[in-house]
Amino acid sequence: MALKITVIGTGYLGATHAAAMAELGFEVLGLDVVPEKIELLASGRVPMYEPGLEELLAKHVAGIEGSSGRLRFTSSWEEVGAFGDVHFVCVNTPQKHGEYACDMSYVDAAFTSLAGVVREGALVVGKSTVPVGSAERLAALLPEGVELAWNPEFLREGFAVQDTLRPDRIVVGVRRHGERAEKTLREVYAVPVGEGSPFVVTDFPTAELVKTAANSFLATKISFINAMAEVCEAAGGDVAKLAEAIGHDDRIGAKFLRAGIGFGGGCLPKDIRAFMARAGELGADQALTFLREIDSINMRRRGQMVEMAREALGGSTFLGRRVAVLGATFKPDSDDVRDSPALNVAGQIHLQGGQVTVYDPKGMENARRLFPTLGYADSALEAVRGADVVLHLTEWREFRELDPAELAKVVASPVVLDGRNALDGERWRAAGWTYRAMGRPRA
Ligand code: UDX
Repeated sequence: MALKITVIGTGYLGATHAAAMAELGFEVLGLDVVPEKIELLASGRVPMYEPGLEELLAKHVAGIEGSSGRLRFTSSWEEVGAFGDVHFVCVNTPQKHGEYACDMSYVDAAFTSLAGVVREGALVVGKSTVPVGSAERLAALLPEGVELAWNPEFLREGFAVQDTLRPDRIVVGVRRHGERAEKTLREVYAVPVGEGSPFVVTDFPTAELVKTAANSFLATKISFINAMAEVCEAAGGDVAKLAEAIGHDDRIGAKFLRAGIGFGGGCLPKDIRAFMARAGELGADQALTFLREIDSINMRRRGQMVEMAREALGGSTFLGRRVAVLGATFKPDSDDVRDSPALNVAGQIHLQGGQVTVYDPKGMENARRLFPTLGYADSALEAVRGADVVLHLTEWREFRELDPAELAKVVASPVVLDGRNALDGERWRAAGWTYRAMGRPRA
């Protein structure tokens, strides 16, 4: 008989995983402790913008016309316990307020609730990003006869559906003699997901570390190129050309070498900090002191963007000056504004007296909630109207497709600063703009 699957926690990770499992043909029950979320998901809608996810949900959520009916949602732990052969725990692990360590309270609460209801013989699978050592501790919370596996998730926001249905690797941490857990997960991830994806089986600590190591490596790549951008700025070099040239070396690779205002979001910043905190607890903090530098190079970029804007305005004060900000989310194709470099820059300029007007294709609602005192416009054109300087801070396709000649007609001063190295500088210059990008020479 086909395995029945539950997914606990329905954020980016959980909602996507639940829909993907239904797409693979499994009966799926999703649980969240927030009733509004359950209500929304049960009607086939998602509480965030993620390309393709709503379509996938609508294809499977029970009660929607024409759906497979394989996906349901509940807030009842009893129902989850009675239903599931395999339980995926997908709750979030945010950074603790004022500390580097991550907050494990949601994971702990999920395991405690699940432990009270889970059937003997079921498999519990942790997917949340946790400090190394957590799986061993959490396994002890589960009753006799219930196995645990650790199966980190590498999905990117904006590509969540595609990354879940076609992962570039599947990593499974099991206990010694955990062959049954491995066999069950191989069954879950059998074709088409597993097709062609390397399936790496290892122990708990390695599986947990794979995730934090991967995110640390990505953060390091970005901060490396941003450090090179700082040197290019001092020496008059061009970081975009430099990235292109070193990226041709297969050992380095061209991806994740875009210099700009740096990384943000709900994962990279908090994951490297939690990793440092955990290494400290383990007495291995020296091994990760470089991550402190990665973090500070990253945070410095935001201030450097503010200074670039100040310089473009004549070098002294923002008081009374109009600054248009294109982009609010931490990356394009998402409405997520958590730790967004774009909003951070906008906020700093606002605090220094600038009149900031922000426009973002999908992040307006979240941005308004987080920074209600900033100015907002309903389109890029409206945002730049009357602006003394325009900052391009999130690289949405919509911004690359703007007509610089049209925008030039409505600004007070045609100066654009590209904080993502993503606009076609020549095109903007040809339309009469002063175009400047981080880490690149002035024309
Ligand atoms: C990341 C990891 O990529 C993913 O594997 C993991 O599961 C979760 O964390 P995500 O947070 O969705 O995913 O975003 P990602 O695409 O990694 O981008 C993170 C940040 O880095 C964004 O703010 C982006 O703008 C920035 N970035 C990315 C750069 O500044 N330069 C680059 O070259 C690439």
